[in-house]
Amino acid sequence: MIVTLQHMKVKFAVVGCGSIGKRHIAVLDADPNVEIVGICDIELTRVQELSELYNHIPYYTNFEDLMAVCDADVINIVTPHALHKTQSIQALNNGFHVLVEKPMSLNVRDAQEMNDAAKANGKKLWVVKQNRFNVPVSLTHQAIRSGWLGRIFMVKCDVLWNRYQGYYDDSSWRGKIQEEGGALFTQASHFIDLLIWWCGEVKSVKAKAATQNHNIETEDSGVAVMEFENGALGSLTWTTCVYEKNYEGSITVIGEKGTIKIGGAYLNKIEFWNVENQPLPTDIDFNDKPNAYGKYQGTSSNHDKVIESIAKEIQTGIGQNVEGTEGLRSIDAIEKIYANILQ
Ligand SMILES: NC(=O)c1ccc[n+]([C@@H]2O[C@H](COP(=O)([O-])OP(=O)(O)OC[C@H]3O[C@@H](n4cnc5c(N)ncnc54)[C@H](O)[C@@H]3O)[C@@H](O)[C@H]2O)c1
Repeated sequence: MIVTLQHMKVKFAVVGCGSIGKRHIAVLDADPNVEIVGICDIELTRVQELSELYNHIPYYTNFEDLMAVCDADVINIVTPHALHKTQSIQALNNGFHVLVEKPMSLNVRDAQEMNDAAKANGKKLWVVKQNRFNVPVSLTHQAIRSGWLGRIFMVKCDVLWNRYQGYYDDSSWRGKIQEEGGALFTQASHFIDLLIWWCGEVKSVKAKAATQNHNIETEDSGVAVMEFENGALGSLTWTTCVYEKNYEGSITVIGEKGTIKIGGAYLNKIEFWNVENQPLPTDIDFNDKPNAYGKYQGTSSNHDKVIESIAKEIQTGIGQNVEGTEGLRSIDAIEKIYANILQ
């Protein structure tokens, strides 16, 4: 059940204080409508340092300890992928709403169990999909949903990024099949979410994947051809092998009455817009910034918008945040792509 006390700050706790967990904490700290009531990480020095940095937030090295004393409304699960299912279900069973980082799980069965736990406990399970807030993505969504593009014939998606070997080596879980799943889960899932949002589920797919330039268990590159529920044909190219730095994160939508290419390195620009009777407004501020992690960049940093929107939903009971039932659809697509990799 959602609380509807608009004057009260919404309380969040964060579990997993690594690369993006730090961003969750920074965003929560900066939002006047919310309050951080606990942080947790198995690395003691990490949580201690963050606690000192942020006004001595109570910190824990054990998730159960946090849940036992914490009065959070929402727990953000920002840990490695293989922990998302168990930690989300634990939090839901203990009466918290959950905001889980992408990918919500490593298979559809687990995602379904998470959704079942949310339903059984009358709690919300949301998934971080911050790219839905990118300015070019919102514009394209409006064009598709308003029917401006007519029937969608094709979608072409390219995730042409760089991750240096140290990104994998410095981590106990990245690049591991059981713990990370692969680049489709980590990098491409942001883009797959949008393809599914606009074209419906993947009806059929064939793919090729390979580990081209990293010493890891999972694939670092692949290509997939798909047919979507709405009849659109689609291609997805994903890699973390681009030389030196991210090159492109793009989606081109080819419709009956228009063509749009969202591009830039992380879906942050409109590269092409030719839509019948709907010129691209000239006064738009394309201001999405990337998440920056020192030696590499991620996708957009719109976590502040995700938190703001969830806090609003908790305060008013009204919201259109991405729930686990929607998050499951990307997991389903990823599962289908991996299951249809040609040998
Ligand atoms: N939305 C985005 O743009 C975005 C960007 C980066 C990462 N992510 C996602 O966020 C999640 C975390 O990724 P990351 O890059 O921050 O990883 P990371 O390895 O940098 O951080 C994970 C943290 O979890 C901690 N941890 C491990 N086991 C734990 C446990 N049992 N209890 C508490 N803490 C534990 C680790 O010590 C580490 O500090 C992943 O799901 C990843 O895909 C999302």
